[in-house]
Amino acid sequence: MEQQLAELKASALARIAAVSTPDELEAIRIEVAGRKGSALAELGKGMGKLPAEEKVKVGKLLNETKTAVESALDARKAVFEEAALNVRLESEWLDITLPAPGIRPGALHPVTILQKEIEELFTSMGFAVLSGPEVETEFNNFDALNIPADHPARDMQDTFWLEGGHLLRTHTSPVQVRGMKRLGPPLRMIAPGRVFRNEEVDPSHEHTFYQLEGMMIDREVSVAHLIYYMKMLLQGIFKREVTVRLRPGYFPFVEPGFELDIQCLLCGGKGCPVCKQSGWVELLPCGLVHPNVLRLGGIDPEQWNGFAFGLGLTRLAMMRYAIDDIRHLQGGDVRFLQQFA
Ligand code: PHE
Repeated sequence: MEQQLAELKASALARIAAVSTPDELEAIRIEVAGRKGSALAELGKGMGKLPAEEKVKVGKLLNETKTAVESALDARKAVFEEAALNVRLESEWLDITLPAPGIRPGALHPVTILQKEIEELFTSMGFAVLSGPEVETEFNNFDALNIPADHPARDMQDTFWLEGGHLLRTHTSPVQVRGMKRLGPPLRMIAPGRVFRNEEVDPSHEHTFYQLEGMMIDREVSVAHLIYYMKMLLQGIFKREVTVRLRPGYFPFVEPGFELDIQCLLCGGKGCPVCKQSGWVELLPCGLVHPNVLRLGGIDPEQWNGFAFGLGLTRLAMMRYAIDDIRHLQGGDVRFLQQFA
């Protein structure tokens, strides 16, 4: 029996040393040192038949063998576990001392930059900044601006009609109506915002663009006041000499009405796609508020009058930044927008 134990120990230790996977190791453990039916368990059973003095000696040897085999098994298992841990550590390794990838700051859209500047300029002159909904009532967009249903001026603005007497506002002028009703006279307001027209898209036309409305109502407002504020506006934006011209312009909600054009800053007046080869860009339609509009806004035209203007904000951004295609401003192309960061 001593002989058997010695052999068992030698072969078990040799096999444990040679094992290459944890599964093989586990198989050896069950075969040699498992609690039931293993080689050591069977030998233990055999001990009962030995005479008493032998029992003590063999028992001790059996225990030693068992301990030796088990500690060899444990040691080998620890080696496998450490190897597995190393593999995992290697795959999950993270260098926390690496420098961060750097902040990539966002940028304001050129139209927004311009809008903010104009808001600042006008608030410094006592104007309130108002906003109105993009889905408007037909009444606010047209009727209240002296454009009744049968008026041919409705055809000047190709409209996206919605259901239930609503539409996508074709201009920011309905905010005039809301401003007059909400704030009453005297009134100084601007209203930047997005407007929509059912237009064929080309380098200078979009179905969606931005305007900035302005309105001032007080006692005895004249065309001279209008021109003064328009000059302040253009000077504030371009910070240089801009050649302008004033032409009569027709808008049912102003009388008299004007078109304030600026000489095209992209071609210097020679003619290009943006100015439609004319050398001039329509930028600032304006005029004195029609008495009907005041009346519909709840203001007595005998007591008050005023001026209004509707700046093409998108077009102005194109002029200022020399952008030759309006579609760049709508496309959301980050490569384009990053230039303004
Ligand atoms: N709302 C007009 C347009 O979009 C512009 C305008 C505004 C004209 C205010 C005069 C006064 O065409």
